[in-house]
Amino acid sequence: MLSLIHRNISRERVYFILLSLVLVAIVLVFRPLHNTDHTRLLPLAPMLSVSPRDQAANETLGFQKILALSTGPSWRTRGLNAAAQLTDLQITVTPQPRNPPELINAFASIGKEQGATLPRLGSATAWMAHLDLLKYVVTSGLTSAFIVEDDVDWDIRIKEQTKLISDNVRLHTGASAEDATPYGTGWDVLWLGHCGSLIADGMPEPRLYGDDSRCETALYSGWSKRFLREKLAENHRLVQTSLQTVCTFGYGVTKSSAQKVLTLLGTGADEAFDVSLSAHCRGDELRCLVVNPQVFNHYEPPAGHGYLSHVHVGDGQGSAASKEAETEFEREMGTTGNIMKSARCEALFNKTCMRPPSEI
Ligand SMILES: *[C@@H]1O[C@H](CO)[C@@H](O)[C@H](O)[C@H]1NC(C)=O
Ligand SMILES: *[C@@H]1O[C@H](CO)[C@@H](O)[C@H](O)[C@H]1NC(C)=O
Repeated sequence: MLSLIHRNISRERVYFILLSLVLVAIVLVFRPLHNTDHTRLLPLAPMLSVSPRDQAANETLGFQKILALSTGPSWRTRGLNAAAQLTDLQITVTPQPRNPPELINAFASIGKEQGATLPRLGSATAWMAHLDLLKYVVTSGLTSAFIVEDDVDWDIRIKEQTKLISDNVRLHTGASAEDATPYGTGWDVLWLGHCGSLIADGMPEPRLYGDDSRCETALYSGWSKRFLREKLAENHRLVQTSLQTVCTFGYGVTKSSAQKVLTLLGTGADEAFDVSLSAHCRGDELRCLVVNPQVFNHYEPPAGHGYLSHVHVGDGQGSAASKEAETEFEREMGTTGNIMKSARCEALFNKTCMRPPSEI
């Protein structure tokens, strides 16, 4: 027994010595390369050499994460994932709590005695979901996040678009050369996905830039179409201060601004999350930058299958489509307004699917 142990120990020792010799040999062989050829190692230095505009074109569009607001797997998330895969984006669908009706009711009645405008139940549910996601951003310690709703859509050229947004947001906010962040730090909300924002004379100087992938004005659908027609040249977008922006299809926040939005919008007492965000953007509380026209828009399933959004159902405007109806319309192509080359429709149907133009 004793001799067996001895034998094992000495065998281990031999292995150890052999291994050490091999390691020493490896170090000796590779040391000359290390000493003489520094330049070969430089590309390994991470991030330092990635320009802001190239960061803005990475898999999370220059944000630390893209987070999707979702109530669970459905045609919305399946289309979202297909579009993300096609355009090489990483979108995280975060787990969302199901707030009980009592909690939603309570939230929807804050400010009732003071005569505040109150959200209807569907809008209150969606509002609380945005708050939950913002809490997730804060507690996860993310430096920045881009929040999308799970029926969102974008152009297959999204990364070319965000490179231009990076250049122009940085110029608009006077980001210094030392600031290596993709969009600078001069904003709280970077509102890239909406359904319209006003363009007015006398607003703080907007920044005009060329973008050939932009939706033609004649093809645009939305209440702010008139402003595009009257105040914005074709093939151009604006980086501008938010003015009456509506719909939160996609917006960026930072670590500190996520907390600010939570504090400001945490108590409800308005028609809906987007309306309240827009109101707080009007004051000095939040610095909100909009890209106009939008680069994110929502996808709508084909008409005629009884589709209604969760918010509309919750607001009492009808009942949701059955699972069977959902399966049916999932096979048929819907439309996305204001996006020339929809990533969803390209991924799922190999087609474009522009919503017919309209003034609303
Ligand atoms: C994209 O760039 C941002 C900003 O530099 C960074 O925080 C994020 O981790 C990058 N995303 C990926 C997938 O590397
Ligand atoms: C997509 O459509 C184009 C024509 O519009 C066709 O040439 C191409 O083969 C199609 N691709 C796939 C994967 O079906």
